[in-house]
Amino acid sequence: MFKGVDMARQIKMLKFSISMLMLCATSANAREAIRLYGCRHGSSGPGGIGATAADYDIWLDCLIDTVELCDPKFDESVAAAWRHCFASGIAIMKEECETVSRRADEQTSTSEIHPDL
Ligand code: HEM
Repeated sequence: MFKGVDMARQIKMLKFSISMLMLCATSANAREAIRLYGCRHGSSGPGGIGATAADYDIWLDCLIDTVELCDPKFDESVAAAWRHCFASGIAIMKEECETVSRRADEQTSTSEIHPDL
């Protein structure tokens, strides 16, 4: 999935994404932007990334592991606060994964019934 991806750009995107996810709880614009990213991530068609809902759980667990390594005051309440901050944004990304795969299923079943479509 990350083959050929510019990792320097990816690091900048990660920083930007973290801010957007945190803004999701309070900003409709951030939620709209996250929904668009979710749609691109969830799609496995042309231009899509093909991420699954489970990838977001792994992504968040890795982020919390990193916080644990970097924050000397890390404890369960710090981990819970990070999870709380990201909950609404991650929920939108996962929702878009489900929407994209439901649309793909609908298209597959339509083409099974109507092979010309
Ligand atoms: C909530 C978590 C995430 C957010 C907000 C996020 C956001 C973004 C954004 C803004 C970009 C740049 C998009 C663009 O250039 O058009 C990007 C790129 C990418 N993301 Fe994510 N991402 C998240 C999680 C993930 C996960 C879980 C995966 C896969 C395991 C993933 C895989 C990728 C890949 C492969 C790219 C590079 C695409 C390319 O350059 O062609 N992302 N992400």
